Amino acid sequence: MSGLSHIQSHFTSAHVSTMEDSIARLAISNALVFFVNGKKVTDHNVDPEMSLLSYLRRKLRLRGSKYSCGEGGCGACTVMLSRYDDQQKKILHHAINACYTPICAVHGMAVTTVEGIGSTRTKLHPVQERLAKAHGLQCGFCTPGMVMSMYTLLRNNPLPNSADIEESLVGNLCRCTGYRPIIEGFNTFTQNGCCGNPAACQGLGDEDNDMVSGLFTPSDFAPYDPTQEPIFPSELQLSDEYNNGTVRFASKATTWIRPTTLNDLLRMKSEIPDAVLVVGNAELAFDPTVRKLQHKTFLSASQVAELVQIDVSDDAIVFGSSVKMSRMCEVLKKRVEELPTFKGQTYAELLKMLMMVGDCQLRNVSGIGSHILAASPLSDLTPLLMASGTTVTVTSLKGGSRTMLLDNTFFKDYRKTSLKQDDTLVSLTIPVSSKNEYFGGYKVKKQVHRRDKDVAIVNAAFRVKFDGDIVKEAALCFGGTGPTVVVANSVSQKMIGRKWDETLLKDVQHMLGTELQLSTQGGMVEYRRSLLKSFFFKFYLKVLDELGEKVSGTSAERKSLSNSDRSALFDIEKSPTSGTQLYQVVPDGQPAIDPIGRPVMNESGCQLVTGEAVYCNDVSMEPDELQMAIVFSTRPHAKIISVDTSAALSLDGVHGYVDATDVPGKNTWPAANPLDEDSETFATEKVICVGQPIGGILADTPELARKAATLVNVVYEDKEYILSVQDAMKTGSFYQSSRRVEEGDVATELEKSDHIVEGEVYVSAQSHYYLETMNCVVRPNERDEMVVLSSTQCPNDVQMKVAQALGVSASKITVKVRRVGGGFGGKEFPPSELAKMCAVAAKKYGKSVRLMLTRDEDMQFVGTRHAALARYKVGCTSDGHLNALDIEVFMNAGCTEGISPALFGQIITQLSNAYKIPAYIMAVKLCKTNIPSCIPMRGAGGPKTMAIIEMIMDDVARKSGIPPEKIREINLYKEGDVNNLYQELPDIVNLRRCWDECLKRSDYYRRRAEIDNFNSENRWKKRGLAMVPTKRVLGLPLYFLNQAQALVHIYLDGSVLISHGGVEMGQGLNTKTVQIASRVLCIPQERIHINENSTDKVPNSSSTAASSGTDLWGNAVRVACETLMERLEKFIYENPKGSWEDWVNTAYMNRVSLSTSGHFKYPDIIGFDWDNLKGTKGQYYFCYGAACCEVEVDCLTGDHQLKRTDIVMDVGDSLNPALDIGQIEGAFVQGYGLYTLEELRYSKEGKLLTKGPGMYRIPQIGDIPSEFNVTLLKRAPCKVGLYSSKGVGEVGINIGFGAHLAIKDAVASARADAGLDGPFRLDSPATPERIRLACADEFTGKFNDHSIDDEFFIRP
Ligand SMILES: Cc1cc2nc3c(=O)[nH]c(=O)nc-3n(C[C@H](O)[C@H](O)[C@H](O)COP(=O)(O)OP(=O)(O)OC[C@H]3O[C@@H](n4cnc5c(N)ncnc54)[C@H](O)[C@@H]3O)c2cc1C
Ligand code: FES
Ligand code: FES
Repeated sequence: MSGLSHIQSHFTSAHVSTMEDSIARLAISNALVFFVNGKKVTDHNVDPEMSLLSYLRRKLRLRGSKYSCGEGGCGACTVMLSRYDDQQKKILHHAINACYTPICAVHGMAVTTVEGIGSTRTKLHPVQERLAKAHGLQCGFCTPGMVMSMYTLLRNNPLPNSADIEESLVGNLCRCTGYRPIIEGFNTFTQNGCCGNPAACQGLGDEDNDMVSGLFTPSDFAPYDPTQEPIFPSELQLSDEYNNGTVRFASKATTWIRPTTLNDLLRMKSEIPDAVLVVGNAELAFDPTVRKLQHKTFLSASQVAELVQIDVSDDAIVFGSSVKMSRMCEVLKKRVEELPTFKGQTYAELLKMLMMVGDCQLRNVSGIGSHILAASPLSDLTPLLMASGTTVTVTSLKGGSRTMLLDNTFFKDYRKTSLKQDDTLVSLTIPVSSKNEYFGGYKVKKQVHRRDKDVAIVNAAFRVKFDGDIVKEAALCFGGTGPTVVVANSVSQKMIGRKWDETLLKDVQHMLGTELQLSTQGGMVEYRRSLLKSFFFKFYLKVLDELGEKVSGTSAERKSLSNSDRSALFDIEKSPTSGTQLYQVVPDGQPAIDPIGRPVMNESGCQLVTGEAVYCNDVSMEPDELQMAIVFSTRPHAKIISVDTSAALSLDGVHGYVDATDVPGKNTWPAANPLDEDSETFATEKVICVGQPIGGILADTPELARKAATLVNVVYEDKEYILSVQDAMKTGSFYQSSRRVEEGDVATELEKSDHIVEGEVYVSAQSHYYLETMNCVVRPNERDEMVVLSSTQCPNDVQMKVAQALGVSASKITVKVRRVGGGFGGKEFPPSELAKMCAVAAKKYGKSVRLMLTRDEDMQFVGTRHAALARYKVGCTSDGHLNALDIEVFMNAGCTEGISPALFGQIITQLSNAYKIPAYIMAVKLCKTNIPSCIPMRGAGGPKTMAIIEMIMDDVARKSGIPPEKIREINLYKEGDVNNLYQELPDIVNLRRCWDECLKRSDYYRRRAEIDNFNSENRWKKRGLAMVPTKRVLGLPLYFLNQAQALVHIYLDGSVLISHGGVEMGQGLNTKTVQIASRVLCIPQERIHINENSTDKVPNSSSTAASSGTDLWGNAVRVACETLMERLEKFIYENPKGSWEDWVNTAYMNRVSLSTSGHFKYPDIIGFDWDNLKGTKGQYYFCYGAACCEVEVDCLTGDHQLKRTDIVMDVGDSLNPALDIGQIEGAFVQGYGLYTLEELRYSKEGKLLTKGPGMYRIPQIGDIPSEFNVTLLKRAPCKVGLYSSKGVGEVGINIGFGAHLAIKDAVASARADAGLDGPFRLDSPATPERIRLACADEFTGKFNDHSIDDEFFIRP
């Protein structure tokens, strides 16, 4: 009898022997022993509550691994966990997420962090070196996690292929780079050592030989030698000491016990009835009931020998409950290869689904049994296991062993199974499939899947078995329809005895609509209903296809599968990413020392890849530092009746509470409009949104502070509230500020038009989702001085507001920012509020105070990009020329008017995007609602209205019957045009140049024909192709903001130190300023050092925002360096053969100052005169670009994949092509997220539901185009730009809309097949739900409801 089968029959109460190894013996705590980066760590006092991440960061001071989401969804905390596996007799290396891995789970194992593989003090590991040199980083916050995922892959597979690399990085999010350069850098480890595009790798040019591709030189890389990797600690390999026997670690509140035999486990479970079994902790870490327990005992089941066994037989595989999903994948893969296809079907489908469960990090720790027992209604695996006839074996000390079928009786209710408290799941037995049996598993890929109750999405698994061509057995299983995964028993039964024909299909689909209860929990009911039918339809066709091959002709009714229907069967695949990045070479004769125009690596690249780069929260804690947690409002609009802090303050380790009464200075900050209410730092009498701070708890640890904050009892008196733009429109809830511009006689022009389209569109909000959540440390000093370390884009704002809150002069407040882990506009103003709260607490308690928001807190507290709804009427001539547009845009500004009015310029200029509209009325209103006050995000207002006009252009094309690209082309701005704010468009020819070059490089017309052909042959997969142009004005919206200062010192050894007022947050500002200083001073970049931004060195700086950073601070540095060179000129002249050091020293000896500041202001910026509706000169200049996107859409699920993107962008003469291309690609992918994936939803009670990566889906590595080409427009110097360059940080967002248009193009083809023509509405983002419903076929009904409200949630 094999091991597991033996266990299944062995465990009866009679058989379980009395354990000598009793719990009493376990009263002795063990010392936790593990290795970190080769060094042994022994801890006799470990707190089992601690995560591995907190342990590394706080106790071991290894701060390379980052906290970003704390829920396993981003990979910023990835480390490698290595252990010796006794079963497989080998060392296993796994990438895991340290944020939810309990520290006790690593006992007897070896942890490798980013610090352990290479450093700037010794040598970079090739993974680190290549990532840095390939420009695969920007803000760098995701970088250590990326490095560790790749490093672990190489430890397991020294010669991976591109698909392996992309697969291993699925769990690592990056918000900055757009992933392409990360993949390209890591692809150098593949056999080809290349990105898949030889031209790019070899740095070849195109036909025009002043353009080159290749942003780095692979031959510069140190070779990778896998034999040089550190060895696994011999102590762990040679001795069983740490793996054998039971160990126990305990703190006052929590106990962790790790038994190694099932006998021990059962005994402990019976002796400690509340003990919770744990394997990967991926569910338990977030389980609110477990979190609330006062005293917790965890029984780790990960190393229980019987639970990790695997038995493979002819008929089945028996997996021990604690077998990890990644191990299960290996076993299934092998079995699928060994078995005949019909027998291996279930395993093949299970394997396919397993690979879509979370990511490598999750699959490396999660047990298959615990996945089932988590009893999630959205589990992807459970439906397949149920459909396959999987049985589970359960045992307990008292009840003995029993085997159960995974069916409807197993799952009782939401997160509840029929297991009793003392039951342990031992194993699951998954049978092979049999002859005449068919199996399929289905899920929507581009969906968030984690927090069950909030987002429900249907998945399914089906099995049928035939006798001849009659159905003999059937099992239709669904997840996401209600509180549990279900087998649709009555429908399944009614299939038995039937033939597999269209009547069966129709009947089943009808029954799925009528007999299967679909809960409204989670919303999206129409979509989910359509998925039930669509999934079954796919399965029906699959079986029909396979049946047809075997028994074709046995049933007269059965139609064979048409080629067009066959398109339902294949999955949309993402092929490995490749691409070409083309840029102009520097002019002949440019000195080699001059780095301008060259793809210079990020100046902090080595620090970022080694984890040595210091972010605000990486600064060491002071011994008596207080940790703050905010008490947030839980009501959208309410009067505060009382606040009771007693329960919170009674906790050990809690030191105090601050609120408005503790603010010595101003608790308010004025709104832009005097009629609007002031914003309060701490709410006093009322709250106006969920997430508004009311007070702050100070405690020893952040966890304790957070726990105490939840105990603060606030009593509210609720008031009426509004959340959505639609409700604001209904009730007339608007702010006073609005804008309206008008040109020509719109009514007459509309009347004259040959085609008129009227409509309404909605573009949702977007969360900034920078990887580093907002944080701050405030350190009090003598005489009311305070030093504030902040993750802000605007240190000046922090300084001024902290000074006002404390009632002290700004000169006493110093704000320092070394770098920020991504900002995108979200860190312009909210960090000042955090800093004020900490400063008030620091003042009250005389101690340093630190506050780091969790991902959830950050997303609820910080306002988002505005959501917008537009109503329009547009008219054009029969040949497609626009005549007139009458449009009113309603933006959801949130609970205060705040900064929103400053965005009017961008909002309105982008309403015309790249098109000349002869007559127009454009009106914008700001809706007053009770969501957090909306703030700028990359592109500041423009990306919304740009999307709106592009949707309108699409309508015009569909109404007039003229191809969309033609409509766009003929309406593009031309030389001599002014825009809709009467601003001149100096180098507008570049718009048309970008357009033409993009058409050419994308091979648009040939591919158009190819795609039309594909679409005519495929009913259920459609491809879409779209071109989109853009223009964007550069510069900060207010006149006085367009100035900057820098401070440059030359030291006597010739080294140079730059300080400037801008903030480095990944855009490459510091790298570019070093390049600029190097050009002016004619010294190598290595001689130039750049320091943190500090308000005591450079005062009164504007926000680093609006793509203006390099224009402002780059110019300020240039001015300062030019001043210094003027001072040195005399000495150079006198000693032309001297060295830089000679000239510097001579100047010093002659008492010449070697330090100066540079001030820069943009000349002639007048902006827009709203009072007189007169535009003069724009802000700095305009950027232009065009993109062509191709997608493939699964019309039955709403899934899509970007296949190819070509971008041509005008960046003037690029200062650094690697950085500029990085900005374009990163912004494009962020725009792609905005327009196709990222959707914000609020509960009816005003709480943000879409918090964290488990609910809010930003683009992942698999989302980017398989072919990603970028060309910088050549010979396009910008007359007013710094060294003829343009700032390019934001414009790329707009062209992300190309993906939306391509999806719409594909959907239009599906609609045409369903007999629907003409304009149709596809709001943004084009989520799977919207795509699926817009495809409008027999499974959706002719869906026409465009309401943005859902029964379950509110779209802002
Ligand atoms: C970032 C992330 C992404 C995810 N993505 C997906 C996804 O795409 N699709 C999907 O389906 N799921 C997804 N999940 C859910 C995930 O699959 C499950 O959370 C995971 O499988 C649970 O395994 P675990 O070992 O970590 O469970 P644990 O948290 O360790 O345990 C889960 C439960 O099982 C119990 N348990 C464990 N072993 C036994 C036993 N032998 N007997 C009795 N009780 C036991 C525990 O007490 C606990 O109640 C995701 C989760 C995360 C964190
Ligand atoms: S996955 Fe650990 S911090 Fe996000
Ligand atoms: S570089 Fe990846 S998140 Fe910033």
